[in-house]
Amino acid sequence: MAESAKRRRGWRKRLGALARFTGALVIVGGLYSVFSPSLYAQEAEDNAVDSDVVKGQELYDTSCISCHGDNGEGVDGRGPSLIGVGTASVEFQVNTGRMPMAAQGAQAPAGDPSFTEEEAEWIGAYIEYLGGGGTVPDDLAALVENAEEAAGGDLYRVNCSSCHGYAGGGGALSSGAHAPSLSGTTDEELYQAMLTGPQNMPVFADNELTPEQKADIIAYVQYIVNDDADPGGVFSLGRFGPSTEGVAIFLVGITSLLLATLWIAGKS
Ligand code: HEC
Ligand code: HEC
Repeated sequence: MAESAKRRRGWRKRLGALARFTGALVIVGGLYSVFSPSLYAQEAEDNAVDSDVVKGQELYDTSCISCHGDNGEGVDGRGPSLIGVGTASVEFQVNTGRMPMAAQGAQAPAGDPSFTEEEAEWIGAYIEYLGGGGTVPDDLAALVENAEEAAGGDLYRVNCSSCHGYAGGGGALSSGAHAPSLSGTTDEELYQAMLTGPQNMPVFADNELTPEQKADIIAYVQYIVNDDADPGGVFSLGRFGPSTEGVAIFLVGITSLLLATLWIAGKS
């Protein structure tokens, strides 16, 4: 009798252990299914970034390597190192059609881009992978939305107008280079240009112009050159306002008066 009670107790023990084991399994399984999707998502994201880098490298190897080197280290007399220039510089150069540079010259001219914006991002990802660099903030649109045009105007006159002109029309620099007109540039291009300082343009790092100040400048530039904010006059003669128009009308008037006088003098 005592023997069978002992055996029954033994079974109960074993059943209890089995129940606890199954319970533990269910909990572990549940936890796994809670966490594993995010693990998978993270992995997929990493793979996506990796594949952007791979696709970028393919484009780089066919279109950029001859001037910027096997690993972006630059080639003497052909092109500078791209280590550390980051996505902003690459996207700026590629999306404005400056790169790939067609012919060696003083200044790569802007033109029609050779790549789509997506391809430019891939090349940017590859250059970023080779070594850091600046990127445009994700919330640029919101920054520009909340920007102050008046403050941007002050910053523009101090930092940009000496090269790009008070009306953003651009201008010649020494040594045959020129600062281009800012008309038609996008918010991203403006930000990228300030962040990376292409060619003869200085770099405006975040400790010189904060992202908010860059946004103020963008809002101001878009206001003077890209929005339809004509400063006055019927024709937009360089957008300098009615005074240029006055000069033009004056010159035309004087010339026709002169011609009329000559004609009358010739008649008599
Ligand atoms: C024929 C030579 C040549 C080719 C091809 C070329 N580049 Fe360049 N690249 C240059 C030179 C020269 C400069 C510097 C002069 C300038 O910026 O105008 C430069 C500048 C750059 C810069 C600016 C670097 C900085 O300091 O911010 C980037 C970014 C760049 N190139 C990316 C590319 C990419 C991406 C490709 C391929 C799609 C490419 N380049 C193809 C010659 C070349
Ligand atoms: C010392 C002269 C200089 C100053 C100051 C300067 N830039 Fe530039 N900027 C240039 C030059 C030169 C280029 C053309 C670079 C090239 O062709 O690679 C340029 C290019 C640009 C471009 C690209 C335009 C295009 O056609 O793609 C933008 C946008 C720009 N600058 C904005 C600014 C802003 C905003 C400021 C002030 C915060 C500024 N620049 C200050 C000389 C200057």
